[in-house]
Amino acid sequence: MEFYDLIKSRESVRDYNPDKKIPKEVMDRILNAGRLAPSASNRQPWRFVLVSSPEKLAQVHDSYRRDWFKQSPHVLVIVGDKSQSWKRSYDGFDSVQIDLTIAMDYMILAAENEGIGTCWIIAYDYELLADAIGLKKDEVIYCITPLGYQHPHYKKRDNKIRKDLSEVVEII
Ligand SMILES: Cc1cc2nc3c(=O)[nH]c(=O)nc-3n(C[C@H](O)[C@H](O)[C@H](O)COP(=O)(O)O)c2cc1C
Repeated sequence: MEFYDLIKSRESVRDYNPDKKIPKEVMDRILNAGRLAPSASNRQPWRFVLVSSPEKLAQVHDSYRRDWFKQSPHVLVIVGDKSQSWKRSYDGFDSVQIDLTIAMDYMILAAENEGIGTCWIIAYDYELLADAIGLKKDEVIYCITPLGYQHPHYKKRDNKIRKDLSEVVEII
């Protein structure tokens, strides 16, 4: 898809077909987009946990109780490792959250390019999710997304509600 069309067409999908898994080659392309994302000092302080097995999916779905989320056939959890991320020398600022957000956005846009729905989610129960994926010492989770095809009846809302460019841009 043309890049600006891709940006316009991505929207939060809250409708998933639980029976249609994503083929491995398609999933690999999406995950590879995350692998290619930039990170501070190229530390790549992440692991991408793809939750696809019925047992693990049930546990992860439990961490965010919404009927539509329960339908997603895959959930992607981006895990950051604070022992690997870059810290700014003079104040200790940690780049991990920025690094993870970029990687997630690359994968979300790659999914859109593959015709696969996503939705940024952060309002999950952190402890339940951490437990489900076996989060280790120094690891953090900042966001997850379902990955899946929509039902055939799904219609894109196609109505971006956003502030006007003049409200958000300041040229100085
Ligand atoms: C950082 C972040 C966290 C979000 N968390 C949630 C969430 O927990 N649950 C949810 O349903 N949507 C969540 N969203 C989706 C936003 O509500 C959505 O992106 C926004 O309303 C714009 O709509 P659009 O994605 O369809 O363009 C989140 C989005 C972002 C960027």
